[in-house]
Amino acid sequence: MVNAEELASRFQKVFPGEVARWRVRAPGRVNLIGEHVDYNDGFVLPIAMTQALWVLVAPRSDGDIAVHSTAFNQTVTFPTGEPGSPGEPFWANYVRGVAAMLIRRGIRLQGASLLIHSDVPVGGGVSSSAALETGVARALLTAAGQDVPPVELALLCRQAEHEYAHSPCGIMDQFICGLGQADHALLLDCRTQQYEQIPFVLDDAVLMIMNTQVKHELGSSEYPVRQRQCLEGLATLQQKHPGLRSLRDVTPMMLKEAQPEMKPLVFDRCWHVVTEIERTTKAAEALRSNDLEEFGRLMVGSHQSLSQKYEVSCPELDTLVEIARSVPGVYGARMTGGGFGGCAIALVRKSAENALRAAIIDRYNGRYKRPALVYTTKAEDGARVETL
Ligand code: GLA
Repeated sequence: MVNAEELASRFQKVFPGEVARWRVRAPGRVNLIGEHVDYNDGFVLPIAMTQALWVLVAPRSDGDIAVHSTAFNQTVTFPTGEPGSPGEPFWANYVRGVAAMLIRRGIRLQGASLLIHSDVPVGGGVSSSAALETGVARALLTAAGQDVPPVELALLCRQAEHEYAHSPCGIMDQFICGLGQADHALLLDCRTQQYEQIPFVLDDAVLMIMNTQVKHELGSSEYPVRQRQCLEGLATLQQKHPGLRSLRDVTPMMLKEAQPEMKPLVFDRCWHVVTEIERTTKAAEALRSNDLEEFGRLMVGSHQSLSQKYEVSCPELDTLVEIARSVPGVYGARMTGGGFGGCAIALVRKSAENALRAAIIDRYNGRYKRPALVYTTKAEDGARVETL
């Protein structure tokens, strides 16, 4: 957790003589289930997590926006009206992108100094980039005395990621980062952007994150490939069913009927999406009735499908899930986020937490290049601004 005093003293060092007036907290996210379905109009079920990105904000009078990242120990400065084009350093593209989208939306930005510090593991599949976009957006809006409704802000941040970080992501990450609610998971219909907050309070259980600390290069290049494969499958299905708008409208039965006309790989990709959307609505139902056993089974089904049909897992994630499944008292486990490294999650009885930690030390650490980092998390609020 970030210590408020340390943060304030970092701010003083980077921006001597300036006084921070606001502090923004923008959380990372853990998707409980509903993976690789947001860009297919499906349902997702994420929470805003404990680990977060913080922004300290001070108004400044010279009309510039200066942004310092503690992770990179770098400051980037640009005039309020001219955020510049994407380039180096890469992290600043998220900042420039958000500023550019706010300007496009008609917001008159005001001069501000921002210090950014994050606890959200970068490349961990827990949305460090959405936390950065949302945190910066809220910081710039606050300094300008403006506001944008949260759903619109999520769309705007996603657009910044598309145009400035060249990542064709779906809507899940920016949405949960802005709209998360403590002790709730958010069931989001990615087609209509309607959502329901479902209580997610674990009395006798705990949500654990197991971070492989690996990020396979493949990740960023395979993501658009998966999107294209989904579209290819959809196009085949549309020949039979011209009314279909996305894989969201497809049932497993319809998909099976179209199987002979599809490449096996494309069928597998679509099968994951169609069944994952079903699993997610069932998981939401299990959560509503507090049925963690069923929820855990659905998590395992999700992981198997992501690993075997969608092929976005990796040996490290598969091993962690396998280890977790073998520990008595673990309801279920799965990779979370885009995949190809990053984090797996496990839903665990409190009494089994230590056994899982021990099993990971025993059977994972040493076998791979880096040990797994294991921590617990819970559902927290989405991005919030505090006046200091
Ligand atoms: C990344 C993207 C999200 C989503 C997930 C997979 O995190 O940013 O939009 O597609 O992958 O579920």
